[in-house]
Amino acid sequence: LIDKQSKYTVVANWKMHGSFDMCDSFANKLSTVCNSDSFTKIETVIAPPFLYLDSIGKKLAHLSIKFAGQDCHFAKSGAYTSDISADMLAELGCKYVILGHCERRKHYGETNKTICKKAESAILAGLVPIICIGEKCIKRAFEELKEQCKSCIPKNAEKIIIAYEPVYAIGTGIVPSQGEIKKAAEFIKSNVNQNAQVIYGGSVNEGNCKQIAQINGIQGLLVGSASIKPQSFSKIVTEVIESLG
Ligand code: PGA
Repeated sequence: LIDKQSKYTVVANWKMHGSFDMCDSFANKLSTVCNSDSFTKIETVIAPPFLYLDSIGKKLAHLSIKFAGQDCHFAKSGAYTSDISADMLAELGCKYVILGHCERRKHYGETNKTICKKAESAILAGLVPIICIGEKCIKRAFEELKEQCKSCIPKNAEKIIIAYEPVYAIGTGIVPSQGEIKKAAEFIKSNVNQNAQVIYGGSVNEGNCKQIAQINGIQGLLVGSASIKPQSFSKIVTEVIESLG
């Protein structure tokens, strides 16, 4: 069973962007934006490259911001040069790990089966997996989503976030209509669990986040390119808080 989540979760996926300077600017900006009472209405998560997790985590330790890895290996440890395990992320203080992002699927050939194994290992390590699914082909959308729901979401997961990210919407400026996103969220829930927390990702920015935040059934945002500028990401966070009332 997947717990009913009341929180709205906004995730910054920096992808392979960042520097220690960027961590500083982010920490400074978020320290001023995220310290009011209204900030507790949402959960803000930052997923920088592994290298910066410790630095930004320490700088923002005084706030209730959470952190995520952008991937993990399915093994606890072993001869997997360059990989990071879920236990390592947990030891560093991460709460989440993003898994199955379409860029991982495309560039590293990740399959639904591998993603499921990674998610199981993340859960064992005490992390909450944010599992990305989404159709490549608009015409076969529900077929693809159904297969992903069936094969990359571990059975009996207690806590999980499903990020609905249609592949054609990532980094393109194309966002499906509110109705389409709502329909996809309903479809995902009917295939996984009615109480699953479904968040949306794909070209979310300062201009459209408010509208997306109001879609019934969507309980969070996964923000890519608009999350790497402290100014834009803070604006998204404040807009979402405002729109949730
Ligand atoms: P985007 O990326 O916001 O740049 O479209 C989203 C994502 O890849 O998670």
